[in-house]
Amino acid sequence: MSSIPQHAKIALVTGGNKGIGLAISKSLSHKSRGYHILLGSRDIQRGDAAASSLKREGHSVEAISLDLSVDSSIIAAVELVSSTYGRLDVLINNAGISSDDEVDLSLRERFEKTYNVNVFGAAVVTEMFIPLLSKSAAPRVVFVSSNLGSLTLKSHLHSPMSGVAVPIYRSSKAAMNMVMLHYAHLYEKHGWKVNACHPGFTSTDLTGGRGGSVDEAAKVVVKLAVLGDDGETGTFSEIRGRLPW
Ligand SMILES: NC(=O)c1ccc[n+]([C@@H]2O[C@H](COP(=O)([O-])OP(=O)(O)OC[C@H]3O[C@@H](n4cnc5c(N)ncnc54)[C@H](OP(=O)(O)O)[C@@H]3O)[C@@H](O)[C@H]2O)c1
Repeated sequence: MSSIPQHAKIALVTGGNKGIGLAISKSLSHKSRGYHILLGSRDIQRGDAAASSLKREGHSVEAISLDLSVDSSIIAAVELVSSTYGRLDVLINNAGISSDDEVDLSLRERFEKTYNVNVFGAAVVTEMFIPLLSKSAAPRVVFVSSNLGSLTLKSHLHSPMSGVAVPIYRSSKAAMNMVMLHYAHLYEKHGWKVNACHPGFTSTDLTGGRGGSVDEAAKVVVKLAVLGDDGETGTFSEIRGRLPW
């Protein structure tokens, strides 16, 4: 803790060890911003390796063990952050998976697997970090959702967007947006900024390496993580502006 910048804000990024989460961690922990990143990783060795590479570049970051599908892992992360920092300023619910194509699993198993991370995991992490977020002077919570979770875009039945047939992933992101709105509504009167975003179609393991850069994807997430007191809350957006629900 002594090596983190004085007055640094503490930010937790779930699924920070690779892909968009790593790019978010890198951008937000740049020394010009004044944030210390807790890089969440369900495999602490992968997290340590990612954190070490950022530290070598001068970023303020440390790995913490966090598996969204295991309550004891979430509780341990809360206890660690509580005992070390006593508060959390920013929570970025980034970790996410898609099991639509896992044909070896039954439909129920595929739904359970995806929802366990994208919906239940994000909701439980947020709920369990509420006491530490409450200790922050300006809590910010960002849910990394997807435009595939938009009911409006899906409802244009003849559009190419509607034809992307991943119902488990899509419905999990629609549910995530509702979880986000629950917290936005609850804490709006306390000045919290709670928002969801679509990072854009991005080249990561999730997309088999197709799409744009992770640095570009991180921009909208970081924008929402550093919102000022006059910033929006309860919104769903991409870098170009608002998305339809
Ligand atoms: N890529 C896109 O085009 C795109 C578009 C829209 C939205 N998104 C969203 O962006 C977010 C990041 O996705 P990505 O593209 O960067 O995918 P990715 O490269 O596959 O990274 C996913 C991250 O989530 C972690 N994760 C998976 N299961 C977890 C669990 N049970 N507990 C904790 N962490 C877990 C992974 O850890 P491991 O390394 O241990 O697997 C990894 O760090 C996701 O929420 C995704 O839905 C992505």
